[in-house]
Amino acid sequence: MEYTTLGSTGVDVSRICLGCMSFGSSDWRPWVLEDDEALPIIERALDLGVNFFDTANMYSDGESERVLGEALEGRWEDVFVATKCYFEVDGRRMSSGLSRKTIEQELDASLERLGTDTVDLYQIHRWDYGTPVEETLRALDDAVRRGKTRYVGASSMWAHQFAEALHTSDELGLERFATMQNHYNAVYREEEREMMPLCEREGVGVVPWSPLARGFLTRPHDEIDATERGENEEYIYEHPYRDGGGREINERVEKIAEDEGLSMAQVGLAWVLSNDAVDAPIVGVTSVEHLEEAVEAVEASLSESDIEYIEEPYEAVDVSGHG
Ligand SMILES: NC(=O)c1ccc[n+]([C@@H]2O[C@H](COP(=O)([O-])OP(=O)(O)OC[C@H]3O[C@@H](n4cnc5c(N)ncnc54)[C@H](OP(=O)(O)O)[C@@H]3O)[C@@H](O)[C@H]2O)c1
Repeated sequence: MEYTTLGSTGVDVSRICLGCMSFGSSDWRPWVLEDDEALPIIERALDLGVNFFDTANMYSDGESERVLGEALEGRWEDVFVATKCYFEVDGRRMSSGLSRKTIEQELDASLERLGTDTVDLYQIHRWDYGTPVEETLRALDDAVRRGKTRYVGASSMWAHQFAEALHTSDELGLERFATMQNHYNAVYREEEREMMPLCEREGVGVVPWSPLARGFLTRPHDEIDATERGENEEYIYEHPYRDGGGREINERVEKIAEDEGLSMAQVGLAWVLSNDAVDAPIVGVTSVEHLEEAVEAVEASLSESDIEYIEEPYEAVDVSGHG
């Protein structure tokens, strides 16, 4: 495994972050793996040197955090764990948003489920239009002072909002966001316009979500529904992966995979990793084999001409992942 320093934190994390949205309870989404299948994947990730894990309070209404906590028992000193809040959990109105009340309650509930007193990175899952950013930043700063989280991070939002948050924390002397978890892959590159340059300038770590476009970049585009997730997850169809040259990019990823003796998933990940702004893509897996391929992809560097070939058909698409 290769490691990189996450933004300006000084912490060395693996270049693959294991996304835990696919672990928890199949009652939440039919493609989510329960303990018996999820635990061996997390175990194998640890064996392969993955030390970076991402979850959220909303994934399987907290079950993802519980499974991850079970797998990491006794190993917290060797891993870097991120979780987040903003979206509603278990239909509880008070669990959503970024008010002080929600942040304090949800962080405590996440720590309880994870089985730890301190999480490494606490992220806001989206921008909250209903709470002044100063209120959110003060609550997050207090969480750091109280030792409940070591760093704070943010996820998909407009770059102008993220710039405002960074500016506000600097002005008020509050903990500033150390990371940006944004939507980024070879068929969704809108983040290259504003967010990635902002993060690079500000020393913010970039940890993209859905680096494989939720599976769209892992098999030919007419076979997307071949898996449980491909058949059932509406986001694969709602995100504009087929627009703006997406189908042709999918075909070119397949061609390079054949030529280089790699899987399409490895080419998709190698493409994300080739962007210097990216610290660690957050990969979602539904088998040990997927995980092993992701770890191998760190070694699979693409040539300049392969990268140009993948990128050439891309055209701007609608912003997706936040609004
Ligand atoms: N901040 C946010 O708003 C946000 C949003 C979404 C996700 N996330 C985070 O990002 C993580 C990853 O998201 P994601 O699962 O959507 O990402 P992804 O990595 O783009 O897609 C994962 C899917 O790709 C397929 N896949 C992965 N490796 C493969 C391989 N080697 N061969 C064949 N297929 C492979 C699997 O699809 P099949 O299961 O169909 O085989 C898998 O479920 C999540 O776990 C979560 O932590 C955050």
